[in-house]
Amino acid sequence: MENLKLKNKVSLITGAGRGIGREIAIEFAKNGSVVFINDINEKDAVETCKIISSLQSKEFDINNTDKTNSTSISNNTNNANDANIANNTNIANNANHSIDVNNANYSNNANDNNYSNNNNANSTNNNNNNNNDYNCNYNIKNNSSCFYYIADVSNLTKVKDMFEFIIKKTGKLDILVNNAAILRDKTIHNMDINYHWEEVLKVNLSGVFYCCREAMMIMRQNNYGKIINIASVIGLCGNFGQTAYGASKAGVIGLTKSLAYEAAARNINVNAIAPGFIETEMIKDIPDNIKENIINRIPLKRLGKPKDIAKMALFLASSDADYITGQVFSVNGGYFMY
Ligand SMILES: NC(=O)c1ccc[n+]([C@@H]2O[C@H](COP(=O)([O-])OP(=O)(O)OC[C@H]3O[C@@H](n4cnc5c(N)ncnc54)[C@H](O)[C@@H]3O)[C@@H](O)[C@H]2O)c1
Repeated sequence: MENLKLKNKVSLITGAGRGIGREIAIEFAKNGSVVFINDINEKDAVETCKIISSLQSKEFDINNTDKTNSTSISNNTNNANDANIANNTNIANNANHSIDVNNANYSNNANDNNYSNNNNANSTNNNNNNNNDYNCNYNIKNNSSCFYYIADVSNLTKVKDMFEFIIKKTGKLDILVNNAAILRDKTIHNMDINYHWEEVLKVNLSGVFYCCREAMMIMRQNNYGKIINIASVIGLCGNFGQTAYGASKAGVIGLTKSLAYEAAARNINVNAIAPGFIETEMIKDIPDNIKENIINRIPLKRLGKPKDIAKMALFLASSDADYITGQVFSVNGGYFMY
């Protein structure tokens, strides 16, 4: 059987409804972790859980993994793997949103009113869905666990609720990946201060800070933790039209290094990954000719794939990286070297 690098671990990945975050969640789940999927988009979060579920049933010995997970969290009455949790709907504001992947009602559930409200809020304003935030658990067959929690990481109250939810479910958190971010590019004179600057800083930097702070409170009690912040090559080298995004990602790098000093005494590693151009929805609007120019500038002559980042995240989350902290890992095909 494959060596599971995150056996007995509990992870939270923000913005895991699609793209890089989804790939990280899949990689972690395949390596034995109980995975909490955060996003503001419920449909996407459910889809990630669904993918994990199908992979788990197909790709690895789930019974073997489950036993270990269940031992690790066994002191907690809210064991993520026990039957109570599997059927628990109390935590959700909407009890009907507990979804079973094997259940044919899945699609009806996902399309109900609350779900649509949530999506509307998401499409008009990432920070505007507070009244529609809710959460629920998603039960993976054979008791292995994957949960999702809908929350805007830039909303401190929602973030606190999310961490409370995790503790209620599993009693611990070992790994946090701060991946959620938004991109709203404009040259400086064309920027709307609130939309293009403040909201970007709020999600991309304050969101990371809020989640780090809540995670630290849990991890320091256990004297164990891995925090991985997804920065960007733009935070290192800058780019035309990306003052807000670049500032937010440079901020994430500064936060990572300073927090690494504070966290080290508690055996908590804090590192950042700076992806280059990765094929996801985030860069889908870059015109083809500009994409071609970018690819020409990349020594490895291709855009990155979410998997390229997920593999680095897995390494940093595992015990292989126990002696690494305060570092920024560029995964950019050689686009920027420093
Ligand atoms: N794709 C790239 O080329 C690239 C390059 C460098 C860095 N990155 C970074 O990688 C990370 C993932 O990027 P991606 O390309 O997968 O982006 P993406 O846009 O495909 O996915 C981002 C996810 O975050 C979620 N999200 C957005 N705002 C949120 C909020 N306030 N609270 C919770 N969830 C929220 C979105 O719903 C989405 O599911 C980001 O931090 C991004 O800045 C991406």
